[in-house]
Amino acid sequence: MASVGKLKAAEAALKEVADGQVLGIGTGSTVAVFIGLLGRKVKEEDWDLLCVPTSYQSAYLAVENGLRLTTLDEHPTLDLAIDGADEVDPDLNLIKGGGAALTKEKVVDSSAKRFVVIADSTKLVERLGKFPLPVEVLPFARMKVLRVLAGMGCVPKLRDGGDRKDGPLVTDNGNFIVDAAFGEIRDPKALEIEIKRVPGVVEVGLFVGLAQCAYLGNASGVRTISR
Ligand code: 5RP
Repeated sequence: MASVGKLKAAEAALKEVADGQVLGIGTGSTVAVFIGLLGRKVKEEDWDLLCVPTSYQSAYLAVENGLRLTTLDEHPTLDLAIDGADEVDPDLNLIKGGGAALTKEKVVDSSAKRFVVIADSTKLVERLGKFPLPVEVLPFARMKVLRVLAGMGCVPKLRDGGDRKDGPLVTDNGNFIVDAAFGEIRDPKALEIEIKRVPGVVEVGLFVGLAQCAYLGNASGVRTISR
């Protein structure tokens, strides 16, 4: 059962969607709520809408909810992207990748004219960094990247596949995830650039200067942060 905060954030984002748009759809439990609402809306209003998903999860869920999919090849510029986040700071910098979909999320979210974050209000933090920073890494480069990240002052850990998968988690792109616990991140932009320069790093879950708005829901309503 989705939290009321996620539902309220998803409802707020739904108000931004209009007939005829091409939408980027992120990944995660909050986006799953949004996809359900969007599917219902599209059916009720008989909208002509296309979605670019960021993961198998959101692609399959979108289809199950009657939404039509497209690609960035056909629609390189999206009207709107809606995505979740693991942390949101007051300047709309984000940590993403808790669901290991950060690479496609960054491509899709940065392809939209407007990128809106939906999350429950517990995701709002003064400074990013309590949530270990997800970094997508080429399996071939695993040891090198772990060593370089440790040298940057974090505690890096290869993400495990969990109960249903022995060994490391494998992303939709066939890569690994390193969760890099930096603690408080003072300069997200500088850290994003520094990590992206490491050979073998595919993408880093710092989203800086990309989001225009965040809807942060809780039981008493929705807080909007925008620029
Ligand atoms: C996936 C993500 C998700 O958007 C993020 O983990 C938030 O998920 P949820 O809405 O389930 O809290 O970045 O890679």
